Amino acid sequence: METERQKIVERIKSESRDERPRELRLAQWTRSNKWSALQEMLIASARPDLISFSVGLPAAELFPTREFAKAVDRVLATDPHALQYRPPYQPLKQHVVRLMALRGVRCSEEQVFLTSGAQQGINLLVRLLLDPGESVVLEERAYTGFQQVLKPYQPRMATVGTDVETGMDVEHLERVLSRGPKPALIYAVADGHNPTAVSMSADKRKRLVELARMHGTPIIEDDPYGMFEYGKDQSPPPLRALDDEWVFYVGTFSKVMAPALRTGWIVVPESLVKHLAVIKEAADIDMAPLNQRAISAYLDSTDIEARLDRLRTEYRRRRDAMLKALAINFPSQSRWEIPSAGFFIWVRLPDGIDSGELLKTAMESEKVAFIPGHSFDVDQALCEGDGGKNCIRLSFSNSTVEQIEEGIGRLGLCIKNTIGRTSGAV
Ligand SMILES: Cc1ncc(COP(=O)(O)O)c(C=O)c1O
Repeated sequence: METERQKIVERIKSESRDERPRELRLAQWTRSNKWSALQEMLIASARPDLISFSVGLPAAELFPTREFAKAVDRVLATDPHALQYRPPYQPLKQHVVRLMALRGVRCSEEQVFLTSGAQQGINLLVRLLLDPGESVVLEERAYTGFQQVLKPYQPRMATVGTDVETGMDVEHLERVLSRGPKPALIYAVADGHNPTAVSMSADKRKRLVELARMHGTPIIEDDPYGMFEYGKDQSPPPLRALDDEWVFYVGTFSKVMAPALRTGWIVVPESLVKHLAVIKEAADIDMAPLNQRAISAYLDSTDIEARLDRLRTEYRRRRDAMLKALAINFPSQSRWEIPSAGFFIWVRLPDGIDSGELLKTAMESEKVAFIPGHSFDVDQALCEGDGGKNCIRLSFSNSTVEQIEEGIGRLGLCIKNTIGRTSGAV
């Protein structure tokens, strides 16, 4: 039945002039927008019949569900204002300072800025540092979420290579920085790089930070995987441990606790915290009072070092299962390194394999998914020639050992069949 309000709406519409709608004009930068391979695979990976090594999801069975529920209960029972508009929660910053100390970084609460995850952290820092049209230094293959952040600014991309054993090509970076014009920022994932899985060598870290300081170009250190170091004692410290002025560190609770909490942090020189608060206010009024209090309450009653040890042990087990399955099932010309941190293995398949085509076949016939390497290419022209065409990124974090053994077996078969079809021999 038509309500009184609907009748009023209909009358107003019938009385208003019937002008033909003009075409909606979207902002210029959105016109080339398309869904990233990760967005598509996030939806595909929900298919129950699929073994997905595509998206770097943390393992849901490792989420601290019960303890977190208790923490939420405690907060709501004792602090009704947790549901109110509230400023960022100071005790959570104290926990962040302690977590950073576990990463080998000394910082103060005043240098910590709370965010809605690392994604918002990199977004806010880019807004703080980049003017439209300036240039940004990043690796030739980079986290697509960062590339999306850059898009509205249409910056010039000064890409540098990545060595799969030692990380960012800092000599190339040196040439880029000396050539000018001065880039607005350098983006780095020093530990468990997404997508190439490499952790930067100690020498390169030192040089990278020296160059940033020398040229006055800040580094955004995006560190979602640094807590997951599998050879812990030998790992070099994060970039932020080497410089507290030019390295702007981005951390997250997504992998340590759960991504749905959408809580992370930035560590910056104290003078920048106020600027970030202004930028974040425009994004989401600079607050998430309930989550921040609940995470803090959870950390109050948790031995976080013991939890991190458990997580590392489980993810290392999955990594090792995948490495073993790769050695058994993939063609001998395939190449990969043992990742010392993070959730990924980067595999270079035999020459001539098109990983985009392989994905279609693997999903259809073997019900296995991964991300083709070229999905991460900053300069799409790199897809040609030696680009990521025959490379794939495999995530081991969100599959059981049994799924890993089964899925890598099926994928290996699929690759061998593809080689057989193209060369006439397996
Ligand atoms: C390199 C990198 N940066 C940032 C993020 C976003 O993390 P968050 O869930 O904390 O926003 C991810 C997500 O996996 C990532 O791989």
